[in-house]
Amino acid sequence: MSDAASGESLSTVTYLGADSTLSPSPHVGFGIDIGGSGVKGAIVDLRTGEFVGERHRIDTPRPATPDAVAKVCREITDHFGWTGPVGITLPTVVRDGIVRSAANIDESWCGVDSQEVFGPPLGGRAVTVINDADAAGLAELRYGGGRDVESGTVILLTFGTGIGSALFHDGGLVPNTEFGHLEIGGREAEARASAKARDDHGWSLKKWSRKVSRVLEHYERIFSPALFIAGGGISRKGDQWIPMLTNETPVVAARLRNTAGIVGAAMAVDEGLRM
Ligand code: BGC
Repeated sequence: MSDAASGESLSTVTYLGADSTLSPSPHVGFGIDIGGSGVKGAIVDLRTGEFVGERHRIDTPRPATPDAVAKVCREITDHFGWTGPVGITLPTVVRDGIVRSAANIDESWCGVDSQEVFGPPLGGRAVTVINDADAAGLAELRYGGGRDVESGTVILLTFGTGIGSALFHDGGLVPNTEFGHLEIGGREAEARASAKARDDHGWSLKKWSRKVSRVLEHYERIFSPALFIAGGGISRKGDQWIPMLTNETPVVAARLRNTAGIVGAAMAVDEGLRM
């Protein structure tokens, strides 16, 4: 049975390090990814960016009010017996710990102090709340599609219900960029080219890739990135549509796929990031 399944608190268990010495567990963290349909959490090995055991998923409560979602987060940490720090993603702008937008989440989140919402149900432990795409970007830059890029500007985009963005320069994150809401020809990028827009219109990958190319061309005119990393569920089919893109900057598929948010959240709290 894994430590997670045994319900033992992994924030205090000993851990057999790569050098085969027993040490406290400084290498594991915990991340929770809050999405429109599911809230998912896992213990993360911060040396490799891999999960320790399985992730645990609970349906996002309806309505997805802050208190209801925070309660689910507690259920997830309890599932693992995890009592240590927790990183949490939200599909919103988070600045100075305050949720400042609510595009694809219950509007009651807008203006909420994330520490006040998550602090009490999570028992006052350290909690870092970070935008979902920023978290995915942190994970991809360290463990995934961006790990070979040492300098320059890298933009990760997540194609899902919306378009999430994470902007990095020389490895440093510029948080809360919200490129999905940039208007291109009078329409928001995410209305043009999210995976949801493709589903809603029934576009083929070929047709959708033309919309994505237009969005990427706009971003490259403004930011001159060295690389785009394409994330979100549709990155699984990246080999089918990335070669059809016509923009200039290289595009690679995210490697961590649907684990990136959880991994990046665990990194954010481990590194004491304050968003
Ligand atoms: C939100 C972003 C989020 C993205 C992906 C957008 O609609 O404004 O904050 O990162 O969706 O979930």
